[in-house]
Amino acid sequence: MEMQCHPLGLDPGRLSGLSERLIRSHHTNNYGAAVKRLNAIRRQLSDLDWAAAPAFVINGLKREELIAANSASLHELYFDALGGDGVLPPCGLEIGLQRDFGSVQRWRSEFCALAKAMGGGSGWAALSWSWREARLLNHWAADHSQWLAGATPLLVLDMYEHAYHLDFGAQAAAYVEAFMPNLDWPKVQLRYRAAVTADSADLGLAPAAAPTSGRRLIDVRHRDDFAAGQDMAEAATWHDPARLAEWSPSLDPAQPLLLYCVKGMDICRSAALALRLRGLDARFVSGGIDAWRGAGLPLQAKPEGPHHAPR
Ligand SMILES: [Fe+2]
Repeated sequence: MEMQCHPLGLDPGRLSGLSERLIRSHHTNNYGAAVKRLNAIRRQLSDLDWAAAPAFVINGLKREELIAANSASLHELYFDALGGDGVLPPCGLEIGLQRDFGSVQRWRSEFCALAKAMGGGSGWAALSWSWREARLLNHWAADHSQWLAGATPLLVLDMYEHAYHLDFGAQAAAYVEAFMPNLDWPKVQLRYRAAVTADSADLGLAPAAAPTSGRRLIDVRHRDDFAAGQDMAEAATWHDPARLAEWSPSLDPAQPLLLYCVKGMDICRSAALALRLRGLDARFVSGGIDAWRGAGLPLQAKPEGPHHAPR
């Protein structure tokens, strides 16, 4: 089946600091060309006599297929992440960036510096979820074929000159700064959630099984959710999921753990994956404290204390 071009899912005339002419040209002439090229290469591949074809023909076509396929997919990710207001709301991805980079600002500094460093060259700056390392990573790709193994790209910034020269000439840094306020973070959060959910699919434990599981309960709700809540699971202790690197070394590696957040989504799932990479037996409560409460399991009043760590 031939690949079809995805239409622009945004009004390019409403972007801030990026012209409609630039976005439409990029979408039609670069992304569109990659899709057409991919289809043409695959038609040639489907007609190839594999037993008789010279190695250089096979190598050339398969290399070009990879380049065109990645170019098409990465451009779709690129355009899909545009059209927002650039504001990252409180969410699991916010916690993940704080956990893995120290702060959202520190992540932004690294990501933008990485992209700007490609000015004058070409390639992609990417934020990816690495299932291999159970963390978010920024990484570099000098062309469409260089991707981090064991990772799923969540946000990509096109640093090929065609992505910015119509508006910015050689000013790659100005393009990077113009790109960031247009990010649609809720879409990036959805991709993060999908990746973490897939990686943690077998780690959920039904709330009803928790009391007899022999696992230590750890509340890893977002600090805002914990601060707003009135109670928590009986015998649980709260730890800020954004600071997992600080508190995880003090955990007893012989003690199995059971984590929960509000609904059992990406915050507790990614925390469980990160703890497992550190050698701990960590699982999470399916459905979170909402399901715990729904199952009529015991709760305790939230203890007074210095739980409300500053951002
Ligand atoms: Fe591009």
